[in-house]
Amino acid sequence: MKKLEGKVALVSGSGRGIGREIALKLAADGACVVVNDLDETFADETVAAVEQAGSQAIACVGSVTDADFGERFVHTALDAFGGIDIIVNNAGYTWDNVIQKMTDEQWYAMIDVHMTAPFRILRAASEFIRGAAKREAEEGREVFRKVVNISSLAGVGGNTGQLGYGAAKAGVNGMTRVMAKEWGRFRVNVNSVAFGLIRTRLTEAAAGAGEIKVEGREIKVGVNPDVMKTLEAGIPLGRGGTPEEAAGAIYLFCIPESNYISGQVVVCSGGFMF
Ligand SMILES: NC(=O)c1ccc[n+]([C@@H]2O[C@H](COP(=O)([O-])OP(=O)(O)OC[C@H]3O[C@@H](n4cnc5c(N)ncnc54)[C@H](O)[C@@H]3O)[C@@H](O)[C@H]2O)c1
Repeated sequence: MKKLEGKVALVSGSGRGIGREIALKLAADGACVVVNDLDETFADETVAAVEQAGSQAIACVGSVTDADFGERFVHTALDAFGGIDIIVNNAGYTWDNVIQKMTDEQWYAMIDVHMTAPFRILRAASEFIRGAAKREAEEGREVFRKVVNISSLAGVGGNTGQLGYGAAKAGVNGMTRVMAKEWGRFRVNVNSVAFGLIRTRLTEAAAGAGEIKVEGREIKVGVNPDVMKTLEAGIPLGRGGTPEEAAGAIYLFCIPESNYISGQVVVCSGGFMF
């Protein structure tokens, strides 16, 4: 029996990168997945890959920052699969600047995508979760549900040039701790995984050479190759992590073995701290 057979997982930003790998990993262990991405083509590709792996998936395309997205995401899961067991708040990107150059637009973009969107998704899921937990308690059953919020070392130890991103990624860890307490009685484990350097398009492109399109904005991402070498040399495990390894850390908080762990921020960085 697969560990996540019959479970329903919602993974935001799962068209590419770490999110895609977690969607595939949860599906390989039996979960049905609601895939989300800004980009329909990539969301559809993840859905096809999940189906090829023998599980079921449906796309819920759009920006997690849309005011009605949380409701849409949750209702897609309930309509398609009849439940919600795992929520991974992964969608996000970096839009960096030092404080004197950071605009209000940049600041709010980071707060919106990394903090407000997870808040709205969890709020939208709360009615179903409270109702399901109440029914299960009346039946004398303990059913654990899982929330994994994706954070960053920038939100744990800070990172120069990432004020909005670092503040928002610290904020989501605050949300993890509060929600672990609010939802403990509903048997929901709420944890954060804070990544160090993971090799995705956010870090792989040479600085400034990589441009991502997010909600009509063109944002430069990437790390200068020399800086990348220095960064990797400082990682005790000797290199950046792969998206598959990053997904592995999230998976740990989605399986029954982590049922008694909640409210934690776990760093996945190859041993690197600050
Ligand atoms: N790569 C790293 O080194 C690293 C380190 C720390 C934290 N993180 C975090 O991990 C998460 C995933 O990043 P990644 O490296 O896989 O990046 P990625 O760009 O490879 O993948 C992120 C996906 O999220 C989608 N996305 C972005 N904004 C969205 C929005 N508003 N609505 C819906 N989808 C949206 C993108 O289209 C993309 O497909 C992010 O929250 C990021 O901040 C990454």
